[in-house]
Amino acid sequence: MLDKTYPPAEELVRAAHIDAAKYDEMYAASVADPVKFWGEHGKRIDWIKPYTQVKDTDFTLGQVKINWFADGTLNVSANCIDRHLASRADQTAIIWEPDDPKEAAQHITYQELHDNTCRMANVLSDMGVKKGDRVVLYMPMIPEAAYAMLACARIGAIHSIVFAGFSPDALASRINGSGAKVLITADEAPRGGRKTALKTNADKALLHTSDKVKCLVVKRTGGQTTWTAEHDYDYTALAKEAATTFDPVEVNAEDPLFILYTSGSTGQPKGVVHSSGGYLVYAAMTHEITFDYHEGDVFWCSADVGWVTGHSYIIYGPLANGATTLMFEGVPTWPDASRFWQVCEKHKVNQFYTAPTAIRALMGQGKEFVTKCDLSSLRLLGTVGEPINPEAWNWYNDVVGGGRCPIVDTWWQTETGGHLMTPLPGAHATKPGAAMKPFFGVQPVVLEPTTGAEIHESPTEGVLAIKDSWPGQMRTVWEDHDRFEKTYFSDYKGYYFTGDGCRRDEDGDYWITGRVDDVINVSGHRMGTAEVESALVAHESVAEAAVVGYPHEIKGQGIYCYVTLMNGVEATEDLRKELRGWVREEIGPIASPDLIQWAPGLPKTRSGKIMRRILRKIAENDFGALGDTSTLADPDVVDDLIENRMNRR
Ligand code: WTA
Repeated sequence: MLDKTYPPAEELVRAAHIDAAKYDEMYAASVADPVKFWGEHGKRIDWIKPYTQVKDTDFTLGQVKINWFADGTLNVSANCIDRHLASRADQTAIIWEPDDPKEAAQHITYQELHDNTCRMANVLSDMGVKKGDRVVLYMPMIPEAAYAMLACARIGAIHSIVFAGFSPDALASRINGSGAKVLITADEAPRGGRKTALKTNADKALLHTSDKVKCLVVKRTGGQTTWTAEHDYDYTALAKEAATTFDPVEVNAEDPLFILYTSGSTGQPKGVVHSSGGYLVYAAMTHEITFDYHEGDVFWCSADVGWVTGHSYIIYGPLANGATTLMFEGVPTWPDASRFWQVCEKHKVNQFYTAPTAIRALMGQGKEFVTKCDLSSLRLLGTVGEPINPEAWNWYNDVVGGGRCPIVDTWWQTETGGHLMTPLPGAHATKPGAAMKPFFGVQPVVLEPTTGAEIHESPTEGVLAIKDSWPGQMRTVWEDHDRFEKTYFSDYKGYYFTGDGCRRDEDGDYWITGRVDDVINVSGHRMGTAEVESALVAHESVAEAAVVGYPHEIKGQGIYCYVTLMNGVEATEDLRKELRGWVREEIGPIASPDLIQWAPGLPKTRSGKIMRRILRKIAENDFGALGDTSTLADPDVVDDLIENRMNRR
């Protein structure tokens, strides 16, 4: 069966940076001679000392190394700010749209971005932050978050952002894991008309860290906070006194720009480390080409800066390109379901980039919320974070895009720094739900899951790996290079393993089918089931727990927990509620279990391994095809789980 395709309009092809012929030519050149290709494209950013080496990478287990532009030096904040000042000091760099539409939006020019970033850099520097130090950010979506990221980059310090929806415990473990000197937070984070007490959470987190960690507090709402003179610093007061210049510190291309913790299939979240030079080149290039960004466009990525999408496509990519980037503090459904579209209309957004979960949630509210807004400024739409189902794709295309905006379904990961696969708007006919084609320099391969053999023919299906490095690739796991090698290079020797499954259709186009490991994707947020399990077993009533994903209409995947209680503990509705609250406290609201099933026992092999395959099937309400259960220690357990399953449709 051939999938329905949506070719780009003639007019768009003519105006686009890359058309089909150019894509083919550039892609071929990028894989034939990566050194030549990236040697040229590395020049899209400014170097203090130009590189002479381009690529030094190895995917061999035991000696994995990833170096790009290794002898070059630069400063990332100078690339995102200073180099634009001569030509666009008065152009808006950041449009900030607050949570409450009644509050005024801000238009921050490149000059103001410069001055405020320097203020922040001076404050941090006075607090003792130096090149190579770590700074954790736990912030609302406010301009100060951007200033803080860029100020760290200006100093050569390494930022690590913790999404403001994470709990104090999760925050503490990331402060400790990165060995941060300073935590930057705000009094409160307004979102959807409610407020999260960030400073209160920060205080709780700091009880579990070294008492040397200093806390810099930005005033957002003016809400009441506790204040500890020994470690709290008032940003608003200090910034007033701070100078508006700060010399950018020269760093090496391979010096880390940031650490971002992300969930894997086992244990604690990993600190993904990104470089300064290669990352910036890749973020800037993908931003320009995937979104067909042109001078003067207003670009809006609706992600939070707490996720990699916010790093690459709210801050670093757009600002390196001298774009106007929109930063939104609120949520799509407050005050009502037209908020996204009102913001698009108000700020005349040209490219809009969001997650399928938001589209599905808004789709359910009816199209009047969209059609009452003037969306004629939109030229392109993008999605990221999870597979998009064709219904949502079609609604996005027809109702939001009015059938005239190409949709770029961008597949990538925290680890990859930027898009690895996506259709290009002027080059490729799109297919609802397909990530389509590799970006320049990216060599995807479909592997046979058990043997690891490369499958060359199409159509086919298997696990997705990447054959060679690209400049935006993560460099290591923070202080654990072994874990980096084991996680990404040991299952399939010689490849970077993505953890995703994929299908390649008869045209050679790629479709991501979802994770093949124990990572689930809840509302576009990536979560390790092992983390939720360890939160559950930390509760005194819980003896054992197993967590799997199941299909959820809006969230993509929901969190399904099988819980075995301690002997003598009664399984009540109240306990269910308590466990739900417990997990929210331990990890954060995004990890809140959707369904909790009481399990007298879990299906295990005779050697004691939990058979997750079976648990997944039951959670999916698809227990007709459980496969081989003959190796189970106690097959009766399965009947009970089926009998009492929570997801009946
Ligand atoms: C999934 C987000 C299908 C995938 C940038 C990947 C997608 C994980 C897509 C990474 C897409 C991301 N289509 N699946 N367009 N984009 N994913 O690290 O499973 O939060 O491995 O990075 O999200 O999630 P992460």
